[in-house]
Parts: sequence; C-alpha cells; structure tokens
Amino acid sequence: MTSAPGRWWRPRSLRTQLLFWLVTLHLAAAALTAWFTFVAYGDLVHNALDDQMRLVADSYAGSGQSRTPRLLDGNAALARGAFVVQIWNADGRTLRASSWPPLAVVPLQPQPGFSDAGTGAPTPSRWRVFTAEPGPRADQPRVQVLQNEDYRRRRALRRALLEGLPIALLLPLVLLILWLIVSAASRSLRAVARDVASQDERSPTELSLARVPDEIAPLVHAFNNLLSRVRSAFATQRRFVQDAAHELRTPMAAIGLQIENLRAHVPAGEATERFNQLEAGVTRAQHLIEQLLSLSRQDAPGRPVLSREPVDIEALLRESVSQLMVLADARRVDVGFEGSVAPMLQAPVAELRSVFDNLIDNALRYAPEGGVVDVRLHEVDGHAVVDVLDNGPGIPQDAMGRVFDRFFRVPGAAAGGSGLGLAIARTAAERHGLRIELRNRGDEDEGGGPGLLARVHLSPVASSASEPLTPG
Ligand SMILES: Nc1ncnc2c1ncn2[C@@H]1O[C@H](COP(=O)(O)OP(=O)(O)OP(=O)(O)O)[C@@H](O)[C@H]1O
Ligand SMILES: [Mg+2]
Repeated sequence: MTSAPGRWWRPRSLRTQLLFWLVTLHLAAAALTAWFTFVAYGDLVHNALDDQMRLVADSYAGSGQSRTPRLLDGNAALARGAFVVQIWNADGRTLRASSWPPLAVVPLQPQPGFSDAGTGAPTPSRWRVFTAEPGPRADQPRVQVLQNEDYRRRRALRRALLEGLPIALLLPLVLLILWLIVSAASRSLRAVARDVASQDERSPTELSLARVPDEIAPLVHAFNNLLSRVRSAFATQRRFVQDAAHELRTPMAAIGLQIENLRAHVPAGEATERFNQLEAGVTRAQHLIEQLLSLSRQDAPGRPVLSREPVDIEALLRESVSQLMVLADARRVDVGFEGSVAPMLQAPVAELRSVFDNLIDNALRYAPEGGVVDVRLHEVDGHAVVDVLDNGPGIPQDAMGRVFDRFFRVPGAAAGGSGLGLAIARTAAERHGLRIELRNRGDEDEGGGPGLLARVHLSPVASSASEPLTPG
C-alpha cells in the first residue's frame, strides 16, 4: 500500500519536509542578513565618506589660492570612487581648476553643504556633492568635492553580500549534517519495520526498544501492547479450538458407534440412502475434529518438543498407504507404491506422518472414482523426493497460491474436506526442513494427462538438521 502524496509545502517524507523548510529558512536568513547589512552599512559608509569629503574640502578651502587639485582619470573618478575636487572663482561661475574636468557639467551648488547631483547624457551618472562655505574674504575661491554615488552603493552592497556569505556557505554543511541525522533516524525506523516484518503471525514477540529514538519509543510501546493483546487473543482462540475439538471428539465417536450399530436395523430403500448420507456426515465431522486438533497442537506455543528419531521413509510411506487403503477401496482407486531409494530422516515420526497422510489423503479424495494414485520415492537431480500423483482435476492456477491457507478449498472441489490438510502438512514439513511443491501434471511433462503432482523434497534436510543416516 502506498501513501497518498502530501501537499507541496508538507511532503509525506519527514526528511524532505525537514530539508525543504531548513533550506527555505536558511536562504531567508541569508537574504535578511544581507539586506540589513546593506541598509546599516550603507548608512555607515555614507556618513564616513561624507566626513572624508568635508575634510578634503576644508583642506582645499584653508590652503588659500595656491593649491591645485591633482588630475585624475575617469577610471579613478568612476570606478575607484576618488574625490573630484573643483575650485571655483569667488563669483561661483567660472571653474578655475578641477581634478576631473569632464565633471565640469555639475555646477557649484547654490547652497553650501551636502547635496546630490546628476549628469545628463551621453553618460548619465549620480554624484554626492559637498559644497564648502564661502571664505571670510570676498575674493576667496569656492571649493566643491564630488564622489560617484554608484561607487558608494557598490561598496555597501559588496559588504552586505560578504556578511550574508557565511550563512549561505554554511547551508550545504547544515544540510549534510541534517541528512545524516534524519537518515540515522529512518534507519532505526526501518530496523523496527524489519523486526515487525519478520514476526511469526501466530506467535508475535515484543519489538526491541534498544536502538529506537525517544520520539518513536511510544509508538513501539503501543505496538508491543497491541502485540501482547493479540498474543493473548490468539492463545484464547487456540485454547477454544482445542477445547471445542476435544469436547466434540468423544460424543462424535459415540454417535459413530451408534450409527454402526444401527446399520443392521435400517430397512432397505430410501432409508438406507438417507442413512448412508448421515454416516458420511458423521465421518466428515470426525475428520474435521481430528484436523482441528492437529492444527491447534501445531499452534500451541509451549507444545512439547517431539523427540526426533531416525525414520525410515519407505516404511513410513508403506504404512501411510496401507492405513488409507480403506478410503482407496471405498472409492475403488488403484494405489501403487514404488521406492527406488531408501532415505532415513531424523525427525518426529508423527509430524512426518501428517505430511504424507494429508498428501495421499488428498490424492485419494480428489482422484475420480476408479482413478489411479501413485506414490513414488525416488531421486530427482541427486536429491530424494516423495511424489504423490493422482489423475484428478488438479488445482486451477489461480488457486495454487491459496491452497495452503487454512480453510481454503477450491470452489467446486469434491465434498468431504475441511481445507486444513495442506496447511497442517506444510507447517509440519517446514518445521523439519522439508518443502512441499504442488504442480498440475498437465502443465509440464509430468507424465501428461490431468491430475496433480505433490512433491516433498527431502533433501535440504540431508545437508542440515536431519541428515539421512543410511542413504540408498
Ligand atoms: N490432489 C488434489 N487434487 C485436486 N485438488 C486438490 C488436491 N489436493 C488439494 N486440492 C485442493 O486443495 C484444497 C485444500 O486441500 P487441503 O488438503 O488443505 O484441504 P481439504 O482436502 O479440503 O481438507 P482436509 O485435508 O482438511 O480434509 C482442497 O479443498 C482441494 O480443493
Ligand atoms: Mg486434504
């Protein structure tokens, strides 16, 4: 199941959410710092440069007639922000000397002090102007100092950008650290998820809190509480099934006996027909009770460990077949057994019996009346297998994945089953390292024709838990 996508400002991923907002906030902080510095430092630069302009003007005004300003080039005046000094005649109309003559277009300002002025086309520029007070004598020259306004703004701007730079530079580092922290947190979340995924649904165990971050611990706690409730609900259900099956077993056996005793007294005709149906129903109920008991025994968490013993598979299969002969005879099924190898397995005999009994029982039940069932013990690719073949309808491909589920029966399957046999067989097989494989004989070259091949792979056991003792 995938979760719905979040809105753009609140993505579903915590990591993306954190990174998105942190990047946004950092960029905003860098921009704000730069702007404040621009405004504050702009003022500072402005005042400091104004003071310098006044000092330069005063030094020229105080030096009388003698001093002439040094000539500048356009680069110094415009790009380097050098002070342009203008010396005017006392009448303020004739420019006597200027350190950068092209700026003669800016006249002597009528009011002494600071002002702003501009030059027109062809190269318009803005200038900060300081006009010195006229001297005490009427013939004293007037002094005016100018500085390029663009230069002053550029200086304030460069400074502001420099102030914002550390925050902008820090951003990738902050993001990297954050990424690592969030990754570590999500790793521990994934570990919890793995823990949950690996649980056995029938006996879930508590999740470990060892590496879980504090923020997630309440969730894991709540989950553990839920698990313990689920565990006790399972136990109750298991006990109920076990007790119910157990309680039903004796009366059902008594009913079976009564029916057997009654048979002699049933009149021929329709009554016999009804009687047979009744008997079949009771047999089905007895079978269901036995299957439920096996299932609840398998599920019991504290079930006694059955002792492993060397089991001769060939002998076990012969026993299974002969016990199920009653069913085979009733359905006139021709059962054959063929053994070309004789492996021994180290496992509890009752569990192995339940694997083979259920598979052979299925073959006998689902083969048609008068059909054929073969049980073969042989080697495939050097590994021992038990094949149970029948010539029944097989299992539709879409049901193949579900036949091992409890209580699942293929719709339209022959009556009589409870849907538990394969579930019981698989649990028992897996417990001892065996694997059951089901295949329709028509699908592949399994002797052709209809029917099912149920194969039990005995070999994985040979290399691990239960070694064959005397192969061949
Ligand atoms: N040899 C087979 N041929 C055709 N269908 C089969 C065969 N074996 C199993 N099935 C199908 O798989 C279903 C599940 O089998 P399973 O042994 O688990 O239950 P069951 O036979 O119905 O009941 P139970 O074994 O508990 O008496 C069966 O109901 C049947 O539809
Ligand atoms: Mg069955």
